Amino acid sequence: MLNRTRIESVADMVEFRKNGVRQPARVALVPTMGALHEGHLALVKAAYGIAQHVVVSIFVNPMQFGPQEDYSRYPRVVDHDIALLSSFPHTVVFTPSAEDMYPEGPSWTVISVPGMTGTLCGLKRPGHFDGVCTVVAKLFNIVRPDFALFGQKDGQQLAVVRRMAEDLNFPVEIVGVPTVREPSGLALSSRNRYLEPHERVQAASLYRALSAGRERFGKGERSRQQITQAVFDVLRAAGIEAEYVALVDSRTLEPLEQVGRQPAMLALAAQIGAARLIDNVILTP
Ligand code: PAJ
Repeated sequence: MLNRTRIESVADMVEFRKNGVRQPARVALVPTMGALHEGHLALVKAAYGIAQHVVVSIFVNPMQFGPQEDYSRYPRVVDHDIALLSSFPHTVVFTPSAEDMYPEGPSWTVISVPGMTGTLCGLKRPGHFDGVCTVVAKLFNIVRPDFALFGQKDGQQLAVVRRMAEDLNFPVEIVGVPTVREPSGLALSSRNRYLEPHERVQAASLYRALSAGRERFGKGERSRQQITQAVFDVLRAAGIEAEYVALVDSRTLEPLEQVGRQPAMLALAAQIGAARLIDNVILTP
């Protein structure tokens, strides 16, 4: 494989996959929308732990943004992204255009996982996960990876993509990677750049709130009411009104009244200034 390859069209990626990778080398895909940070780089690093070839896709996917969302102002800094990836010299960076991915406008075929998207972020972002699943399915077919890596930071996305890959028998192993945080606890996100300095301080309370819930769980508490109360207490003290604070099964996203034997996800979303932020922690019994 060439050093630092950039592939800019779907046709070239398909061609590369046909002739550029000698079997039986294994290929890992890290799908991103760019504006890369250490969280994304953790996925790339994990990808090199399991595969010989790593493809990082950078594509701001119009299909997953709502009409009032930040598609047009979403940061696009491909040259900077490619520079950041230079510590991984053999990475293939796939940067298709929207016209190439959706030549006739939004895909006519849409993949949805309705049982898992009418909850959490799906409530506020109708159609968002359909857009995610559709573009991820396209990327799977274009790149044909053996592994695809997703961050636990977007816990609902990880669960939904896992389910899609399972239900549709995509020959891809979905790998989840733990959330990378700033020293303050704030989960790294491309949207953190929308925060004013004082909002960044406030945003660090999101993880402190989740940690308070996890601490309550660590002391033996199992009820949703009590665990989420601990979260709300910290949020209220920080002057944050959450969009939701939820306790769900981490695999199926079904709401839980009690943490049982399966890992649970304690998740929240909040608007802070111009940024809608999400975070979660996993409670493992
Ligand atoms: P994007 O927000 O760019 O994120 C790309 C990947 O990086 C996702 O799997 C996300 O969960 C992961 N990630 C982001 N912040 C992280 C952090 N702090 N720690 C660990 N991983 C983190 O998610 C998307 O793009 C898109 O929806 C996409 C899957 C590319 C489909 O368009």
